[in-house]
Amino acid sequence: MESFILILFLSMGFNLTVHGEVNKQEIGGFNQNIYNGRSDVAKTIDQSCQKCKCSLLTADCSSRKIESLPLDLPQNITTLNLYDNYITALPDFLLGRYYKNLQTLDMRENKLSTTGQYTFQGLGKLLNLHITWKRGSIMHPLLLKPLKEIQIIDVNGEGGNFKGNEIERDAWLNAFEGLQNSTIEKITYKQVIFPFILKEKHFTYFKNCQLKELHLPHN
Ligand SMILES: *[C@@H]1O[C@H](CO)[C@@H](O)[C@H](O)[C@H]1NC(C)=O
Ligand SMILES: *[C@@H]1O[C@H](CO)[C@@H](O)[C@H](O)[C@H]1NC(C)=O
Repeated sequence: MESFILILFLSMGFNLTVHGEVNKQEIGGFNQNIYNGRSDVAKTIDQSCQKCKCSLLTADCSSRKIESLPLDLPQNITTLNLYDNYITALPDFLLGRYYKNLQTLDMRENKLSTTGQYTFQGLGKLLNLHITWKRGSIMHPLLLKPLKEIQIIDVNGEGGNFKGNEIERDAWLNAFEGLQNSTIEKITYKQVIFPFILKEKHFTYFKNCQLKELHLPHN
């Protein structure tokens, strides 16, 4: 599979590396950043950050059994960590309406099953997206289109042998469509699904992009 991808890209004139492993250090660094947030600042700036640990620019809402997007976080946060919660749905426009300055969003380990076309609408400054692929979930193919500045997308799947239909299986690959002409640099789809079927059309979406790395570990 890897050599197939490389050959395809070379023949299309791309300068892209495909690796088989993820750089865990990066994710670790990201979390560390969050825990360095000063919660004492938050108390004077925003009284309403009830469930999370907030600072002026950061909200750490990880592992708090949260079931929906908290709407009482400081409006100018650039980092929102929702890692390990029970969020099942993100209504269209909600994120962008409340937190339009987000640069880093961690939605890993949630129960998100379906997204609309405008789930990320308004997040024009987002640089890093970390999200979990849930088995049987349906992602809108243009889900990623509003992310005008996106650089890094990390998708963690549940893995395993897939028995659902083709639309569910290919949902995250089809979401490449929304990245046409985007600023994306690095994509990691980890343990997403088996079999993992990359088609030529999935690559054509990156024709005008500067994509440098595509990591597909544990698939
Ligand atoms: C958020 O940012 C805007 C524009 O930069 C600024 O006017 C506003 O005061 C900020 N709000 C808070 C709560 O910091
Ligand atoms: C991407 O850019 C090309 C060249 O500028 C343009 O023709 C095409 O319509 C754009 N596609 C999208 C989806 O924006």
